[in-house]
Amino acid sequence: MHRPHRGTIHCIDARVIAQQAWPDRQFIMRLHAPDCARSATPGTFVHVRCNPDIPMRRPLSIMGANASEGWIEVLYKVVGHGLAALSRAEPGDLVNLLGPVGQGFRPDPARPQAVLLGGGVGIPPLVFLAARLPAAPAAIAFLGSESPFPFATATARLPLPGIPASAEACMPQLEALGIASRLASKAGLPGSYPGYVTDLARGWLATRSAAELAAITVYACGPTPMLRAVKELAAGFGLPSQLCVEEFMACGVGGCAGCVMPVMIDGQRQMKRVCVDGPVFDGAAIYVP
Ligand SMILES: Cc1cc2nc3c(=O)[nH]c(=O)nc-3n(C[C@H](O)[C@H](O)[C@H](O)COP(=O)(O)OP(=O)(O)OC[C@H]3O[C@@H](n4cnc5c(N)ncnc54)[C@H](O)[C@@H]3O)c2cc1C
Ligand code: FES
Repeated sequence: MHRPHRGTIHCIDARVIAQQAWPDRQFIMRLHAPDCARSATPGTFVHVRCNPDIPMRRPLSIMGANASEGWIEVLYKVVGHGLAALSRAEPGDLVNLLGPVGQGFRPDPARPQAVLLGGGVGIPPLVFLAARLPAAPAAIAFLGSESPFPFATATARLPLPGIPASAEACMPQLEALGIASRLASKAGLPGSYPGYVTDLARGWLATRSAAELAAITVYACGPTPMLRAVKELAAGFGLPSQLCVEEFMACGVGGCAGCVMPVMIDGQRQMKRVCVDGPVFDGAAIYVP
């Protein structure tokens, strides 16, 4: 049997290079993990031991990887005691991780126009994907959050037709890559569209011609209700989608079947492990509850 993850998941004591705190208990952590940085691809994740006293690891998407400098970056929001412990790690500390784990996004050369949709702590794999996409044609991104964004926003310079003028804020890191972005939030964040990220995307898609739509693939990661809305949005415009899903994980490396979900493959319903067969799946092949 083909096991694409065999021999590619490393167990690493990664040294913390930097840990940056953002509002609402969000953190960006850079770790020295050269083996992981070499083979990480957008959509893959690391399974992190937050503290030697907490045996259960936490899965975190890789937000960026630099193979020549040997580092990876993660962005996380503290929910409970595991990530709270991780947030106390300081530069120089060691953090044990398994990674990179999983099958990431698979850009389709036949549909090269990428529409990226990220929600909350689902934003990191899209940032990584944006950095790895071919330079042209430029992707576009819609990012949503109910917490203040864990980056300094700026007024967008790159135009996006179909978007309300009041939605003027962007993620500067994406603009620097030539990728136009807009932000959405129901929490009244300045410059953000006061609604869902999928509504912003719908406005833009509605301005596309049939030929333009034929070149688009939608890539998304975020909370389950958002992924359900993305799946419906993509289906409504006849677009393929690739969705990065979350599931509770135990081993995180394919051994326990604790993370299985049904996936339709060639008309057959098969049980797939989110950790190593995903976490990215064809949106049309999965049921999003
Ligand atoms: C593939 C994948 C990628 C993820 N990437 C990110 C990311 O980049 N940034 C981020 O902030 N969060 C991410 N998450 C969610 C994150 O793993 C959970 O929020 C985190 O495990 C909660 O840990 P805690 O110690 O803060 O909370 P606790 O409540 O103490 O966690 C309790 C237990 O529940 C598990 N758990 C809780 N919520 C989730 C969840 N949503 N998914 C899976 N397990 C969960 C934990 O692993 C732990 O075993 C990802 C989840 C998955 C499956
Ligand atoms: S978490 Fe063990 S198989 Fe996925």
